[in-house]
Amino acid sequence: MLSSISVAVLATGFLAGTVHGAASQAYTWKNVNTGGGGGFVPGIVFNPSAKGVAYARTDIGGAYRLNSDDTWTALQDYVGNTNWNRWGVDALATDPVDTNRVYLAVGMYTNEWDPNNGAILRSTDKGDTWTETALPFKVGGNMPGRGMGERLVVDPNDNSVLYFGARNTQGLWKSSDYGATWAKVTSFTWTGTYFQDSSSTYTSDPVGFAWVTFDSTSGTKGSPTPRIFAGIANVGQSVFKSEDAGKTWSWISGEPMYGFLPHRGVLSPAEKTLYISYGNGAGPYDGTNGTVHRYNISSGVWTDISPTPMASTYYGYGGLSVDLQDPGTLVVASVNSWWPDAQIFRSVDSGATWSALWEWNGYPSINYYYNYDITNAPWLQDNTSSDEFPVRLGWMIEALAIDPFDSNHWLYGTGATIYGGHDLQSWDSTHKVTVKSLAVGIEEMAVLGLIAPPGGPALLSAVGDVGGFYHSSLTTAPAQAFDTPTYGSTNDIDYAGNKPSNIVRSGSSDTDPTVALSTDFGKTWSADYASSSSTPAGKVALSADGDTVLLMTSSSGAMISKFQAAFSAVSSLPTGAAIASDKANNTVFYGGSAGSFYVSTNSGVAFQKTTSLGSSTAVNAIRVHPSVAGDVWATTDTGLFHSTNYGSSFTKIAGGCTAGWSFGLGKASATGSYPVIFGFLTVDGATALFKTEDMGANWQTISDAKHGFGAASANVVNGDMSNYGRVFVGTNGRGIFYGSPSGSLPATSTTSTTTMKTTTSTSSSKTTTTTSVSTTKTTTTTTTSKTSTTSTTSKTTATTSSSATSTATSTPYGQCGGAGYTGPTICPSGWTCTVANPYYSQCTQ
Ligand SMILES: *[C@@H]1O[C@H](CO)[C@@H](O)[C@H](O)[C@H]1NC(C)=O
Ligand SMILES: *[C@@H]1O[C@H](CO)[C@@H](O)[C@H](O)[C@H]1NC(C)=O
Ligand SMILES: *[C@@H]1O[C@H](CO)[C@@H](O)[C@H](O)[C@H]1NC(C)=O
Ligand SMILES: *[C@@H]1O[C@H](CO)[C@@H](O)[C@H](O)[C@H]1NC(C)=O
Repeated sequence: MLSSISVAVLATGFLAGTVHGAASQAYTWKNVNTGGGGGFVPGIVFNPSAKGVAYARTDIGGAYRLNSDDTWTALQDYVGNTNWNRWGVDALATDPVDTNRVYLAVGMYTNEWDPNNGAILRSTDKGDTWTETALPFKVGGNMPGRGMGERLVVDPNDNSVLYFGARNTQGLWKSSDYGATWAKVTSFTWTGTYFQDSSSTYTSDPVGFAWVTFDSTSGTKGSPTPRIFAGIANVGQSVFKSEDAGKTWSWISGEPMYGFLPHRGVLSPAEKTLYISYGNGAGPYDGTNGTVHRYNISSGVWTDISPTPMASTYYGYGGLSVDLQDPGTLVVASVNSWWPDAQIFRSVDSGATWSALWEWNGYPSINYYYNYDITNAPWLQDNTSSDEFPVRLGWMIEALAIDPFDSNHWLYGTGATIYGGHDLQSWDSTHKVTVKSLAVGIEEMAVLGLIAPPGGPALLSAVGDVGGFYHSSLTTAPAQAFDTPTYGSTNDIDYAGNKPSNIVRSGSSDTDPTVALSTDFGKTWSADYASSSSTPAGKVALSADGDTVLLMTSSSGAMISKFQAAFSAVSSLPTGAAIASDKANNTVFYGGSAGSFYVSTNSGVAFQKTTSLGSSTAVNAIRVHPSVAGDVWATTDTGLFHSTNYGSSFTKIAGGCTAGWSFGLGKASATGSYPVIFGFLTVDGATALFKTEDMGANWQTISDAKHGFGAASANVVNGDMSNYGRVFVGTNGRGIFYGSPSGSLPATSTTSTTTMKTTTSTSSSKTTTTTSVSTTKTTTTTTTSKTSTTSTTSKTTATTSSSATSTATSTPYGQCGGAGYTGPTICPSGWTCTVANPYYSQCTQ
């Protein structure tokens, strides 16, 4: 499918002949700083041979490299619309011999959400630049089991050799030329049959390989390492080894057969020991049982060294690391101890005994053996929460690494950020370490809405999983996410054109009304009692005077509320329509669906279809002039349309624009008479981020080879009405960017524009293809951004998720609910099902 898009793009340019590519204007791009994270970090890998070389991978926002000052640098910002799936990183390998080399296995989904195959990326400059080898199958950087690893490894004795353990039933793959070409290892015949559940194509795809680990002690420099271990997601035999450099393989006899899956297989070379963390789910959300095992390579003896006995555990194990400076010292984490918090254990005697990072001291008292430092990202704790045990250590801890050159330095990834510290050995002396948020530079939020209302703060953001923020500054991390009411995800945000300090947002909550209103630019909020906790979250538009809220939900369609009266259905606007409010006329709302435009002139009570937008079959976004009533724009699958008469009729903008997604208006230039328009569009056959200062007569490309912003259709864009040229781009997994012009406006062509008629058929087939990719991606924005990360647990406190279907009875302290959970939802008599977080509810007393 990818190649057919490329062909169509080329054909458009070729057939049209006179179509010019849009000019480019240089822009400076920076992340809006949130202090780090905002999503799941499934892998952290230190190079064992070069001090300070380390990387982190994310599931939807690419890989990062660690800097010496504890900050991180993003390595895949080149990823754009055509290769968006490269932001899903399922495995990462750093070369222990040539320590500048680093490899990634990339691809987002192995089901139909991602139409493209995966690839192995290789770099010889620590990830500054990449070369790609396409794989003949899909890779699932955002699939279940993505925290297992690492599936991609470099042979420490012969670094031209790499192995990649694939998902599904694709098996084990080997390269002997530094990752340039790959061949299947046909002698490895076990594929792993485990999958999460059969409820969807997402959860029913077999996880396949979990990890491959070389026994560096078994070989000699310059020759392929003979002994290789491999773990697969299989209920039954799951750990295998080769003694002949991968020619033949066998199951390691004596492996415990509890039906658990091996999450991490970590070699302690000095001890000639393989440590393995097991869990009864693939993660990153599940797991209620598991072990830690030690396999003595010399004797072949397996030993259960679980910190918590199997009989009483309620979590599996994930993140595991050994201290290479101090053999016998290791740290292991629970994947998901949802309540009261994650647990991390340390042993200095090869797992014979353990000490925990906290322990009960007679409920509800807890002895904390750590200080907690979130000065880098204060919003990681909701300081308005009344949770008895606010989760601090995190959840989904599958990545954990001790610096091989510094026994005091450790890092671990959670569902929301990276924590770690520089005093790990204090665990053994004073039993008190400082757990610090160390994710500065990692911006991996999935952004759902952005506004910069005139007179307000620099920016307001609606963000998946972590809520959204009042950004008083673009460079200082916000202290607190939107609260009171607090939403796990904020789906959308809008302001009132005539009274811009009036803001509305919509988000999901188990306890609070799902619409919130502010009269101070989003600094403080109150619940909109037009809604309740059962009102679905959706897109919102606030009328120009701020008295009427239009809500578009996917399950209950459009709803309207004036003066906080209860929401009532608006049947005259199709479900899923794009919506907007007029910014100057309080009674006017706009809608767009299936290529048709709709207008309400009675405060949203009823909509009339006014016109069709050319031959469009979709309406992707509607934006309205910030001060001129009735001046409205829409992007569709055929281009950009403009109306100056309240949407009664539209003009299709020429200038080569043949499709558009999110866009926004920003302050006009000193000589300009109309706001600058920014947006993800297809112009002259290229899909990128463009701007125009003359209402579409001339376009400038402002994304560039180093800033691609991933899938065009998944992003949200808005202009800044206070700063000429500034644009905000919210991505699906790489946080929020802001850009300002660094180059001058290219000379405008007076002979430009419309050769569109000659390209219509080609460009519409091209557009169709792009749209199908985009639709898939849009689905992932709303569904998988939620599964890829989780909200802070403090954000939900009441009833269980309705996704569970079983009516059987759970056990004391057993799970009884949570997103994606399908087990028993009823607690034994005398026990109450209590929500710990969106993904885990537990029977408690
Ligand atoms: C592994 O087994 C060998 C042979 O029995 C023994 O000498 C060695 O101490 C064991 N290693 C560990 C770390 O227990
Ligand atoms: C964990 O699994 C083991 C092996 O099946 C079982 O014996 C044990 O009871 C389980 N633990 C819990 C808490 O259910
Ligand atoms: C939350 O933290 C912020 C920033 O430190 C502070 O301004 C605010 O007063 C705090 N709110 C509560 C309820 O503690
Ligand atoms: C607002 O729009 C309505 C409906 O088009 C129109 O009747 C009314 O005159 C407009 N109000 C203003 C102040 O322009």
